[in-house]
Amino acid sequence: MFFLWLLFFFSFALAEFHSKMIITWGQPANYNSYDNINTDNFWTDCLKQCLEEVDCVRTNTEFCPIGDDAPLFGEDNVIEPYYSINVTISQDGISFWQFNIKCGDDSWLAIRGNQSVCISLRPFPSPYCMNYEAARNMCSVNNGIGLTNSYSDIEELDIRIRWNNSLQEVAINDPNALFSKTKDLWADGICSSGGKNCNVTDDTLQSDFNVINDYAINNRCVFIAPSAPGKRSAECSGTSAYRDTSCLRGAVCRTFPIQ
Ligand SMILES: *[C@@H]1O[C@H](CO)[C@@H](O)[C@H](O)[C@H]1NC(C)=O
Ligand SMILES: *[C@@H]1O[C@H](CO)[C@@H](O)[C@H](O)[C@H]1NC(C)=O
Ligand SMILES: *[C@@H]1O[C@H](CO)[C@@H](O)[C@H](O)[C@H]1NC(C)=O
Ligand SMILES: *[C@@H]1O[C@H](CO)[C@@H](O)[C@H](O)[C@H]1NC(C)=O
Repeated sequence: MFFLWLLFFFSFALAEFHSKMIITWGQPANYNSYDNINTDNFWTDCLKQCLEEVDCVRTNTEFCPIGDDAPLFGEDNVIEPYYSINVTISQDGISFWQFNIKCGDDSWLAIRGNQSVCISLRPFPSPYCMNYEAARNMCSVNNGIGLTNSYSDIEELDIRIRWNNSLQEVAINDPNALFSKTKDLWADGICSSGGKNCNVTDDTLQSDFNVINDYAINNRCVFIAPSAPGKRSAECSGTSAYRDTSCLRGAVCRTFPIQ
């Protein structure tokens, strides 16, 4: 016997700033997780509960059977305009779902533990080298959430490689934008003296890290250098980490997913 049951799945990744529903087909094989919504108004109460629980998508999907005639179940990867879903099935037949947000053209999707974020590397417009406040402002417009930083060493390497590539693209349209100075990237983080106990604003990152090099005399903000790994700090009001030879040329921004 097969009957349709509408499941509303919520992305825990999106729940941080807004909610998104995915409607799909399927019948829960086991209703244990719905015990507390056993009322006449099942559907409304189910929705209400789903709206309240950020992990709704994960608690329910494990109980859904895989049916051939359902448009979603039985497929490993579902790619839609605003999201994609990757499904892996373990040996004992339990399916694990990975809900992925979709990022805008200038951003890419990065997975940070159980969270997904969109990252965009933005170069400053002319006169090119700017301070931390300019970085913060640039990251808060055009679909930006704010500054972010690297979550892991792998993500940092990715950022450094992508930044080098995007500077080459910038140079195609604006040859003056490339010059001999090092082109560093402001990143989320304000530190105490010596580049210690840096705190971030993006809550998908870890606060309280120390930088490997602190070039600031007064207040300290974090940057990433494309030439070498590790986070460094510089004067927040400065436009270069070392006078004359470097330029704080852009920022690591987090952007909203497509919605
Ligand atoms: C989802 O699956 C597709 C196809 O196998 C793969 O290219 C993509 O990287 C996967 N996405 C994630 C976030 O794992
Ligand atoms: C996500 O991971 C963090 C850290 O590992 C954990 O504290 C948190 O409860 C997890 N959130 C969800 C919704 O699973
Ligand atoms: C970062 O946060 C910690 C814990 O709240 C605090 O002790 C430290 O002083 C903060 N660092 C800065 C630079 O504000
Ligand atoms: C980025 O470019 C700089 C300058 O050309 C180079 O020194 C650096 O190794 C490059 N970084 C990466 C991660 O490729």
